[in-house]
Amino acid sequence: MKPKKLHLLLLWMLCCSGVAEAIEPISTTLAVGVAAALTGFLASYPNILYYFHECCRPEWISFNRTGLEADLQSKLFGQHIASRIILKAVNGFMSNDNPKKPLVLSLHGWTGTGKNFVSKMIAENIYKEGMDSKFVHIFTSTLHFPHPSQNATYKAQLQQWIRGNVSSCERSMFIFDEMDKMHPGLLDSIKPYLDYYDKLDGVSYRKSIFIFLSNAGGEGIIQTALDFWKGGRDREEIELKDLETALSLSVFNNDKSGFFHTSLIDKNLVDFFVPFLPLQYEHVVQCAMAEMKARDLEPDRDVADKLARDLVYFPKSERVFSVKGCKTIESKLDYYT
Ligand SMILES: *[C@@H]1O[C@H](CO)[C@@H](O)[C@H](O)[C@H]1NC(C)=O
Ligand SMILES: *[C@@H]1O[C@H](CO)[C@@H](O)[C@H](O)[C@H]1NC(C)=O
Ligand SMILES: *[C@@H]1O[C@H](CO)[C@@H](O)[C@H](O)[C@H]1NC(C)=O
Repeated sequence: MKPKKLHLLLLWMLCCSGVAEAIEPISTTLAVGVAAALTGFLASYPNILYYFHECCRPEWISFNRTGLEADLQSKLFGQHIASRIILKAVNGFMSNDNPKKPLVLSLHGWTGTGKNFVSKMIAENIYKEGMDSKFVHIFTSTLHFPHPSQNATYKAQLQQWIRGNVSSCERSMFIFDEMDKMHPGLLDSIKPYLDYYDKLDGVSYRKSIFIFLSNAGGEGIIQTALDFWKGGRDREEIELKDLETALSLSVFNNDKSGFFHTSLIDKNLVDFFVPFLPLQYEHVVQCAMAEMKARDLEPDRDVADKLARDLVYFPKSERVFSVKGCKTIESKLDYYT
């Protein structure tokens, strides 16, 4: 083996495999000594460790509260309730060294309102590699579990994946998109991982994060937002309690929501239900301005207005909310600039 390769291997052992903790300090020193002798650049050891290979360690996984707060404030528009809950939930969970259960968030709302976007923000402010981290896993119902007839296979597979991944890193994150299209049995199968268990078969899930995304409850949220709008009230006046009834009714009573057949709710396994409000014209403008800024373009209000004006809004008579939220802004911007 070439010295350089051996050096990297030793670093990998120290960094990722937990060997450093497992073996006695003397042997660690020895290993480090060998590596140093071989390559002579161990003086820069911390930097190499840092850049070398993603590991389940604080160098790669640590929560940046200021980062999440700044992202929520400057990139997420029109979601004062979601923004507040998310920051509080994630901050509380990540600053607790001994959580009693994993963090389980259920994000609800119409398409394009920012559910995926927020999941990404959370990942980016916990994992150095963000969504590319090997500790962040995304499951999309229609993509990963398309055939209801294969639910038994999916069930076994999903359980195995979650167990396998959490065994190798307890700070794992699982995002389930299109929850409302997921077979209820499948959701049932992951229930044990969300519960208050110290350990299951020797694996602790208490430091993992599960995020469920769905349109369930979206209509109730829209109705509430519309009622406020019609009453001439400020959207920022909407509080979580104004949406809770709408949310729980639809989640409980709507078969399609995926929650109906499961006891996620009765067992209180979901820590936070997070509502996403439908977006209005001004939010679409903000999204467009932010997107221009992200592309290093000079934010141009005229372009943003033009783009926002060309979107479709509902209800038909009042035209208050953007049908696709901010979803198509990114692709449309090419056309307008
Ligand atoms: C946390 O996020 C802020 C804002 O994005 C950034 O300036 C800062 O460097 C980050 N801190 C760490 C430790 O990554
Ligand atoms: C799979 O789905 C069918 C029908 O939806 C159900 O009868 C069966 O019990 C399910 N199997 C598992 C393992 O959940
Ligand atoms: C972790 O999850 C991924 C799916 O995101 C899966 O392909 C992989 O096999 C899992 N790893 C283990 C060790 O189970």
